[in-house]
Amino acid sequence: MKKLYGVIGSPIAHSMSPHIHNDAFKQMDYNAHYHAFHIEPDELEDAVKGMKALGVSGFNVTIPHKEAIIPLLDEVDEAARRIGAVNTVVNRDGVLIGYNTDGKGYVEALKEVTMLKNKRVLIIGAGGAARAIFYTLAKEGNIQIDLYNRTASKAVELIQEFSLNHLAKGISSKEAVNTMKDYDVVVQTTSVGMFPYTEESPFPLINIKEGAVFSDIIYNPIETRLLRDAKALGAVTQNGVSMFAYQAAFAFEHWTGQLPDTDRMKNIVKVQLGGISC
Ligand code: ATR
Repeated sequence: MKKLYGVIGSPIAHSMSPHIHNDAFKQMDYNAHYHAFHIEPDELEDAVKGMKALGVSGFNVTIPHKEAIIPLLDEVDEAARRIGAVNTVVNRDGVLIGYNTDGKGYVEALKEVTMLKNKRVLIIGAGGAARAIFYTLAKEGNIQIDLYNRTASKAVELIQEFSLNHLAKGISSKEAVNTMKDYDVVVQTTSVGMFPYTEESPFPLINIKEGAVFSDIIYNPIETRLLRDAKALGAVTQNGVSMFAYQAAFAFEHWTGQLPDTDRMKNIVKVQLGGISC
């Protein structure tokens, strides 16, 4: 019998997930279909019960439900619980188990462009995406991570909460600008620079480290202002396409036990974004 998978969120009409997962199911000869469900916050509880009652095999969870779904699930794995967000649910014989593949997906994507051991990393932002990335990067060990956030207190809170890396520190935008040349890797996790505010950047770049890697979770536009400025100063840059593909690939692995072709997933995302090369 065909299995059913999906994604719940709002807005959801333009989700790229159905394209990449349905293609992966086809590629792997897996008899399943993936559907996007528009669910508003006041419908979330019913939606989760409905998924269970209908025997949906698994689903992704996106904005605005990643945190709110946690108490509605039967089990939540440790990383998702610590991060405080679930983006993937597996229905194991009627038991709904929540996972977070955003952090793991991001770090896997980052490893495509840089080694992480003994590197100095600056994370920009302290919201949900930063939590997932900070937690996962800190667990890698041997990485010095600093955090810059517009609201400094949130960066400090995040560092205190995870405290996996006692060297982590919060820095101001002025410090970020002045010490940018010390960072091997800069990870941008906020919505600053996202369409339609494509000329915005968290801070101006004056001086960066030679060979530095700048990575932005944004994929619309394909090259943010920050990445453009960093590239002009000689940085290696990475947009959010790889991360998106890897979080999907790891969700797919939770559901099927198999890792799909991530290059294929990236290409589908690029086509969906309008065929811009990235
Ligand atoms: P997400 O789950 O996508 O990370 P979020 O939890 O709402 O979203 O977090 C948004 C992040 O983007 C925060 O770090 C936020 O900074 P504040 O903590 O100061 O609010 C950051 N952010 C959003 N808009 C911003 C802006 N215009 N300038 C600087 N930072 C911004």
